[in-house]
Amino acid sequence: MSTKNVSAGLAGNVSLGHELSVHRLGFGAMRLTGEGIWGPPKDRKSALAVLRRAVELDVNFMDTADSYGPNVSEDLIAEALFPYPRGLVIATKGGWNRPGPNQWTHDASPIHLREAVESSLKRLRLDCIDVYQLHTPDPVVSFEASVETLAQLQNEGKIRLIALSNVTREHIERARKIAPIVSVQNRYSFADREWDYVVDYCESNGIAFIPWFPLGAGRLAGEVLNEIGRAHGISANQIALAWLLRRSPIMLPIPGTSSVEHLEQNVAAASLQLSREEYERLAEVPELFSSR
Ligand SMILES: NC(=O)c1ccc[n+]([C@@H]2O[C@H](COP(=O)([O-])OP(=O)(O)OC[C@H]3O[C@@H](n4cnc5c(N)ncnc54)[C@H](OP(=O)(O)O)[C@@H]3O)[C@@H](O)[C@H]2O)c1
Repeated sequence: MSTKNVSAGLAGNVSLGHELSVHRLGFGAMRLTGEGIWGPPKDRKSALAVLRRAVELDVNFMDTADSYGPNVSEDLIAEALFPYPRGLVIATKGGWNRPGPNQWTHDASPIHLREAVESSLKRLRLDCIDVYQLHTPDPVVSFEASVETLAQLQNEGKIRLIALSNVTREHIERARKIAPIVSVQNRYSFADREWDYVVDYCESNGIAFIPWFPLGAGRLAGEVLNEIGRAHGISANQIALAWLLRRSPIMLPIPGTSSVEHLEQNVAAASLQLSREEYERLAEVPELFSSR
């Protein structure tokens, strides 16, 4: 594949709180860590190369979290890219910890979030984090207390913009009473549409929506993707990304990969146009699942 005309900029831009504007195809840096999102990557040089290549391909939005590794993903971003190119937005997260391979524990308490922000600032070598996302609401901590802590850190100049992840519309509305919310990151793809109503809410309110696990899943989804992909002479993953980009102008996919080749394929999806019929066929996949 020639990558001469591949640029994340071809997906257009999305605004983050009317303060920052980023290309609508970003990069998710979770897959750069070791297996089970734990420990260092098998091949450090190649992980650093993926990050540098993403910037060369005009990716200017990178998603990470303190828990990826833990710490590994943020460390790699700083090692590969610091001093950061102008316009690169790093969006990290806190409040969901990684105590071991494939394990998650909640801690979105004010004390922990404060420590988490300070640690991410150090690892990323920043004075202020452009976008800080509450990774997920903590069932034993008041949601308001978590968001208020982020608002305080914003007032102190440690966070520029506040964002949420793994939330309902109700959470977003409650958070917006405390501070402006610039993006919401939930699991979403053409085949996985539980959060359709949150995408619609974000679109109506000028909030960017960041779908995680954007490449879709399932055998039936795969069959439809492969068929449309063959017609365009491109891969199923590229079709899944093109569907997301067409779904809404506030959509900001962050496909994750540890491979430069896959990265180049994913960014190439920025310029793909699905026909209305192809878009709608993919949009019907969840209904086909439920009727089988
Ligand atoms: N907020 C949250 O709770 C949450 C949860 C999960 C993820 N995330 C974020 O969302 C990002 C994306 O999610 P994700 O990594 O779970 O899902 P994804 O991007 O849908 O899928 C990643 C998987 O697809 C493979 N892949 C990527 N591009 C490919 C290509 N062109 N061809 C073939 N295989 C390809 C990757 O393997 P290779 O490495 O072999 O390419 C990897 O196994 C993460 O990096 C992370 O930043 C957030």
